Amino acid sequence: MTESALFTPITLRGVTLKNRIVAAPMWQYCGVDGFPTDWHLMNLGRFAAGGAGLVFQEGTTVERRGCGTVGDLGLWDDRFVAPLRRIVDFLKSCGAVPGIQLMHAGRKARQRFPWDGRGALPRSAEIADWDDWDVVAPSAIPQGEGYPMPRAMTREDIDRCVAAWGSAASRADQAGYEVLELHAAHGYLIHEFLSPASNRRTDGYGGSFENRIRFAVEVVERVRAAWPDHKPLFLRISAMDEGGWAVEDSVTLARILKPLGVDCFDCSSGGISGASPIETGISLTYGYQVGFAERVRREASLPTMAVGLIIHADQAEDILRDGQADLVAIARELLHNPNWPIDAAQKLGIDPAFALAPVQHGHFLHRRALSGFTGSLSTWTTGMSTGGMSAG
Ligand SMILES: Cc1cc2nc3c(=O)[nH]c(=O)nc-3n(C[C@H](O)[C@H](O)[C@H](O)COP(=O)(O)O)c2cc1C
Repeated sequence: MTESALFTPITLRGVTLKNRIVAAPMWQYCGVDGFPTDWHLMNLGRFAAGGAGLVFQEGTTVERRGCGTVGDLGLWDDRFVAPLRRIVDFLKSCGAVPGIQLMHAGRKARQRFPWDGRGALPRSAEIADWDDWDVVAPSAIPQGEGYPMPRAMTREDIDRCVAAWGSAASRADQAGYEVLELHAAHGYLIHEFLSPASNRRTDGYGGSFENRIRFAVEVVERVRAAWPDHKPLFLRISAMDEGGWAVEDSVTLARILKPLGVDCFDCSSGGISGASPIETGISLTYGYQVGFAERVRREASLPTMAVGLIIHADQAEDILRDGQADLVAIARELLHNPNWPIDAAQKLGIDPAFALAPVQHGHFLHRRALSGFTGSLSTWTTGMSTGGMSAG
């Protein structure tokens, strides 16, 4: 069996991932009043059955008013714990580590779905608690034209919000998640505090770098106090944005957050002015954000996760072998092929017996391979010319 960096297990605190492939958090926009549906079980279940070592549930909101759309999942109440545990148990039964991303949309709250063009959601009688869906941000600066005008958070709002992150982390632990990620990227609330483009506060939470990171630091401290010591904590950062936050700032932040208990920086970028980095199309090259993960890893001596247009097995393998990151997160390619990890193991030639696949599938795929048929690794023409059919 050939050695593979992609399929080398990694242990972070007390949690071991069987490989370095992470299903990135991906909103499905179909929660019902914050509750998950069978869609979420199926969707995340596919990634787990497909062989990912760590499967992140989509950005799940810590306060009702932090919901980006009507379809967000929530953890602002104890009622969410039991239905989420069903998902967690299923992911574990597939051999994946269940992770959850916690988020607060801040000024990006109360928006339409991406396929409806985003922008401000019109008031609707169907949303009974509309008045509780208050759009808040560090400063009263909208994301852009056509987006809601946020209310600048008071000190009381900030304290209440920091506490909500801690309570949500505790509920995530109760539901059984083993890795927790804080969404501090893509123009959502924590990022809005970090970036000078969206934070014009004149109190202790705005102005200098030390003040702009204060909210993030307080959230990390509160979450770490609520999240068990043996479970890893990740933070997704926009390593640089279009509003004045630079890679050097991310490195400094990583050095500050590491001793506070952050175990991995998930390095994305952008989103402070646009809808999302992939929609604003920062730069469309393979692995366009890998350099950020490499730099933070090297300069802050912190494990990192690379994400963004990582599509091919050998590309992912090279990122890890070259020491650019410790983990690779895959998003859209997993939508295309939830079995990407199983497929990558075949392409890298490290799983001849299809041991990564669930036995209900792997047993038969292995037998087919033994008879000379190699499925997605071959073309119809080569498939025609090799192998033979075995019965049963
Ligand atoms: C449908 C969809 C939903 C997403 N939802 C989230 C999310 O919940 N949280 C987040 O941080 N990023 C989210 N993203 C961004 C992805 O996690 C990832 O960073 C981005 O798609 C780039 O990776 P890719 O090129 O492998 O798709 C989402 C992306 C997609 C396509």
